[in-house]
Amino acid sequence: MMKALLPQLMLGALFAATSSLAPEAHAQASVKPAAAAPAKFTELAKTPQMGWNTWNTFACDIDEQLIRESADALVSSGMREAGYVYVNIDDCWHGKRDENGFIQPDPQRFPSGMKALADYVHARGLKLGIYSDAGAHTCAGKPGSRGHEYQDALTYARWGIDYLKYDWCDTEGLNSKGAYTTMRDALRAAGRPVLFAICEWGDTKPWDWAADVGHSWRTTGDIYPCWDCDFNRGTWSSWGVLPILDKQAGLRKFSGPGRWNDMDMMEVGKGMTEDEDKAHFSIWAMMNSPLIAGNDIRKMSAATRKILTNRRVIALNQDERGIQAWRFMNDGQLDMYAKPLANGEWALMFLNRADKARSYRFDWNEHELKDEFTHNQVHFGKVRHSFTELWSGDTGDTGKPYAMNVPAHGVVVLHLRPQSPR
Ligand code: GLA
Repeated sequence: MMKALLPQLMLGALFAATSSLAPEAHAQASVKPAAAAPAKFTELAKTPQMGWNTWNTFACDIDEQLIRESADALVSSGMREAGYVYVNIDDCWHGKRDENGFIQPDPQRFPSGMKALADYVHARGLKLGIYSDAGAHTCAGKPGSRGHEYQDALTYARWGIDYLKYDWCDTEGLNSKGAYTTMRDALRAAGRPVLFAICEWGDTKPWDWAADVGHSWRTTGDIYPCWDCDFNRGTWSSWGVLPILDKQAGLRKFSGPGRWNDMDMMEVGKGMTEDEDKAHFSIWAMMNSPLIAGNDIRKMSAATRKILTNRRVIALNQDERGIQAWRFMNDGQLDMYAKPLANGEWALMFLNRADKARSYRFDWNEHELKDEFTHNQVHFGKVRHSFTELWSGDTGDTGKPYAMNVPAHGVVVLHLRPQSPR
């Protein structure tokens, strides 16, 4: 144990004293060395990160061939062009630590090594993500980073890793803010910009402490591909789309550029109906969740590809203002969400939670929207807006009530733009 820890400790001391700090840290250091506080890489995740992750479909059954094929599929499917740039390897890529404590990839599953894989991914205009855990073991029992944070961060930087999802298994007795801050500092010290995705399932309210630590934080336990269910796994549960949505109550004020509420990797294309998948995708977009696909993108149907690459919906998620939607009305079955966008534009989502389709007539005169958090407000009855429905392409304006039919477990999503002042 001591043998493994020593190089790690030496590395930590070396980083603290010398060269791989960012230029601004050097500037501070020359004035007052003790004040050179490491920080997260603030230039990343100005809009929610987009990509693909192995876990939801493949769990531990992963290897370098799958990663290469999936990187190729991101390109050929048009997903990369739509914004999905992170190729994220989740749990189970690990082999053993070497005699100095440096982590190695599983030699059977990743025989070419991670650097070669990163080169492959980068050559396609994509970025490579990896996974570790704040405890001694990951959730699948692989080596975690506890006590090896600086070594692991340095290893990831050498490999050319761009994204770290950092899990929370095997952490009894650890302080979450401290544990995640240690890895943040280690990443900063290693010098390569790495998007830091916190994954402690909302257990210790990361929205309260993580804005300066990571770029996103999971708000809930794991997702499951169902509409309104939970899947009991004994000591914990996975959640369907609606339970995850409902667990976001009260969190919107913590979301913004560089600090996103992460509702988990998506289950689009994993067995729900097409309407449910469209609703799931629209909800994640409206709520500013990272958009990380979790299906087998090498084999997805045309319908799934179309949902994941709906640029009009993606644009809501990627809006530069980064304001998370709020629910302004619900009648138990039909939820209505509003999201202020750049240039005085708005998105509205009508979400039918029920098992039956729903006809609804929305009278613009009856709804003055006031965002108590950002103070954006609009009265569509007084200021006429044109709109596009983002799944059908239908267009209209707010001059007359809008009659819509919202599918069962489905959505209608409108993007509204003010018409020129009259
Ligand atoms: C946890 C995470 C999941 C996944 C698994 C891997 O459950 O929440 O997203 O990373 O661990 O073991």
